[in-house]
Parts: sequence; C-alpha cells; structure tokens
Amino acid sequence: MDIETAYKEIIDQNKYMSGYIIDDQGYIVYMNNTYLQILNLEKDAVLGKHILEISPNTKTLSVLKTGEAINGYNWRVKGRNMIASSIPIYKDGKVIGAFAYSLFLDILDAKEMIESLMWELNKYKDEVRILHRAKYSFSDLIGSSEEFLKVINLARQLASHPDTTVLITGESGTGKELLANAIHNRSARSGYPFIRVNCAAIPENLLESELFGYDEGAYTGAQKGGRAGKFELAQGGTIFLDEIGEMSYLMQSKLLVFLQEHEIERVGGSQPMELDVRVIAATNRNLEKMVSEGLFRQDLFFRLNVIHLEMIPLSSHKEDIPQLIEHFLIKFNRRLGTDIKGVTDKALKSLQHYRWPGNVRELQNGMERAVIIANMEGSSLLSGRHFNFVNTSDDPESFYRSKDLKTITEDVERQLIKRALKDANNDIQTASKFLGIDRATLYRKIKKYGFSAS
Ligand SMILES: Nc1ncnc2c1ncn2[C@@H]1O[C@H](COP(=O)(O)OP(=O)(O)OP(=O)(O)O)[C@@H](O)[C@H]1O
Ligand SMILES: [Mg+2]
Repeated sequence: MDIETAYKEIIDQNKYMSGYIIDDQGYIVYMNNTYLQILNLEKDAVLGKHILEISPNTKTLSVLKTGEAINGYNWRVKGRNMIASSIPIYKDGKVIGAFAYSLFLDILDAKEMIESLMWELNKYKDEVRILHRAKYSFSDLIGSSEEFLKVINLARQLASHPDTTVLITGESGTGKELLANAIHNRSARSGYPFIRVNCAAIPENLLESELFGYDEGAYTGAQKGGRAGKFELAQGGTIFLDEIGEMSYLMQSKLLVFLQEHEIERVGGSQPMELDVRVIAATNRNLEKMVSEGLFRQDLFFRLNVIHLEMIPLSSHKEDIPQLIEHFLIKFNRRLGTDIKGVTDKALKSLQHYRWPGNVRELQNGMERAVIIANMEGSSLLSGRHFNFVNTSDDPESFYRSKDLKTITEDVERQLIKRALKDANNDIQTASKFLGIDRATLYRKIKKYGFSAS
C-alpha cells in the first residue's frame, strides 16, 4: 500500500476527523466525507479544484514548498474549532503532494466523537454477547422417556419466568450444563450473555473478584480502572454457577446478598451496583445433606432452590439409549468424517444393560471411541468389541443378572487352576507353586471344582 492510500484509510475510518490530499501543484485529489459534510459540498465539486478555492487560508500549500510538516495548529472551518496538521508526501526524495487532517475541538463535535466511540463500545458489548452466548438449546437434549421429559418439560415452562433462580442437581454427566444453556436460550434473556463460572476451578481467594470484580486500588497492582467481574459481564443475561457445592461458606454469604438485593459490590469498591442477572446453579452434590452437615448455608439453599430440576441418571431412563446412540452416531460421523451405519443388536443389548455410572457423558465418549476404532478396522457397524467397558463375551443379560462377584471370582479361580494343572502336567506340587498356594489348599479347590489330578 502506498502512503497516499494509507492516509486515505486513516481519515476514512475516523468519522470525527476531516482530511484531504493535494498534488504537488495544490490541486485536490482526495477529500474525506467528514470534510465534505462540513463544507456542504459534493465530492465531484471539489476533486480537481485548487485548494485555495476551497480553503483560502490553508497552510498546507506551504508544506509543498518547505517539505516540512506543520503539526497541531489551531484551525477554524465554518465556525468549528479544529486542531490540524499538514504533512508532505514524498516519493523518491521529492514532494509529490500533501496530506492534511484535522480533529474537532468543539464540545458539540467532541460529543459526536464520543458517540462514535460509544458505538465502538457497543460493538464490543455485542462481541461479549456472541462470545458468551449459550451454545445449546432444548433440541440438543436427547431423550423422550417419560421420566426424562418430566424434568425437561418443567424446565421448558421456565421460559415465561426469566428471573426465577434455578437449581439443577444430578449425577455427573447427566446434562446439567446442557440444561442450563437451554433454559437461558429459551428465555427473554437469550440475547444477553450466558456466563458460566466453575466454582470448583477457581481458588477461593480469587473467586470473589472473579465474580464481583475489583476496583482500582483494591490490590497493589490492581488494573487501572478496576475490572468487571462475571456478574457485571452477565448484565441482562444469566450467570451459571456450576459446582456450587464447592463454594466456600464466606462466598456463599456474598452470593446470598446478591440474590436478596440484586446488587453487587466490587472488591475494594464503595458503591454497590445494581444488576439484572439471573442465577442458575448446578451441583452433583447433595446440598440438603451438606446443609445438615453445616457445609452449605441453609438460607442460600432456600434462595437457590426456588425451582429445583433434578437430572435423572441414565440408568433410570435406559429407554432413551437407542435414541442417544443414534444422535451421537450422527454427530461423530459428521465430526470425524466417518460413515458408521449403526450398532449390532448384540452390542445394543449390552449397552442397554450396562449401568452407566458416567451417564450420558460416558455414553457419548464410548460412542466416539467406538466410531474411531470401527472406522480404523473398516467396519461399518459398531459391535461389542468396540466398546471397552461392556463385557460382551457372554450374553449380557445373563452375565450381569446371574453373576455376582463371588461367581465371577470362582470362574476366574477355576480357569487359573485348570491352566496351572495343565502347565504342570497335573503335578500338584508344581501347580501349587505356580499358583502360590499350598498343596492342601490346591487339593481342596480341585475337589471343589471337580478336577482330576494325579
Ligand atoms: N440428554 C442429552 N442429550 C445429548 N447430550 C447430552 C445429554 N445429556 C448430556 N449430554 C452430553 O453429555 C456431556 C455431559 O453433559 P453436561 O456437561 O451437561 O453434564 P453435567 O451434568 O454438567 O456433568 P458434571 O456434573 O460432570 O459437570 C455433554 O457433552 C453433553 O452434551
Ligand atoms: Mg457440569
């Protein structure tokens, strides 16, 4: 880009700056819109005209002669006070033109300038909104079983109560965060930020300033102008306090104050600030139990517990497993560029029989892994061996129903003894050494399992 284009860009980007460019004879080759507006002239009426016709007292012409810039002089155009600069444009050591620009000094014009800065600021606010928008909605919550829908439908009804505090509980991986996103997205707050704070991940001594921000001078080295906390960032929207059960007792009291007063106070600040922010909290801990143990404030619990949504474990809505599998299959095929068609009947049975302690998250992770492995193998169907957590060597129904730990242990013991006897050519002495038990014990077990040995 040549210097002339660069100058043009500068004055074109700043509404509150007027400017023009002349050639080495003083003829106008460019003028920005702000200056045209001040002069109340059309572009065509000025281009090619001599600068003296437009601006009889201009200092820019002398720049052409001296080759030296004049910076920061006072200037009046159509009754407006400006501060101006005129700068020569050089090419190959010769002055080929000049560039002049001015900034408004009037209060009225300063106001305009501020307005344009405010516009920038609002743009930044929009960016906060976009950055912190809720990613999921109700359509991302898969499941149609009665038990699952009972919770989801209650949550849907919250759409008409955008200020109600919500507490979401449930085991890990049941979709608490997903639900919090969905509630926000389906409320009048959806155009405003959704800000998640993981209370477990932030050290206790930082949580307060993280949530409420701090004022300049709150700490040595505190940022100039202070810093907004997550509550302020969430203004108009929702703050999602995840893992609320991990919040310290002291912070619990500060949160309680917000829920009661709808006001926050920055750390080191003297002025409370009123905010319109909805609180959704989530935890996989039993808050009632924590209250009875004195670990969680009862008054805060009541304030949070206005609407309580309990996400049920996957094991209590196994009917939804096929639908979830279908959903994750589509998702991972798309993401990984694979084309896995489905799950074998046998594997599906195993998956439906499994306990799923990690809930939907575990199913999701299991599906991702299975899709990758099956794809590497070139299979188009997922079968038992692609899922490492479910034993499919036996029929799963009978495997889990009939076998308790004792039976499984005995199975393993029987196998080991059988193998040791074989490797020792049925010699009891050697076999008992292999197994690390004495001969009498081995005899007893042989009798128990009905093996023959010499
Ligand atoms: N019903 C569902 N349909 C589709 N995906 C789900 C569902 N429930 C959970 N998931 C997915 O499972 C994963 C875990 O969900 P989420 O993070 O919401 O769980 P959580 O309850 O917050 O767990 P934790 O207590 O461990 O934080 C996410 O990737 C989420 O998208
Ligand atoms: Mg979570």
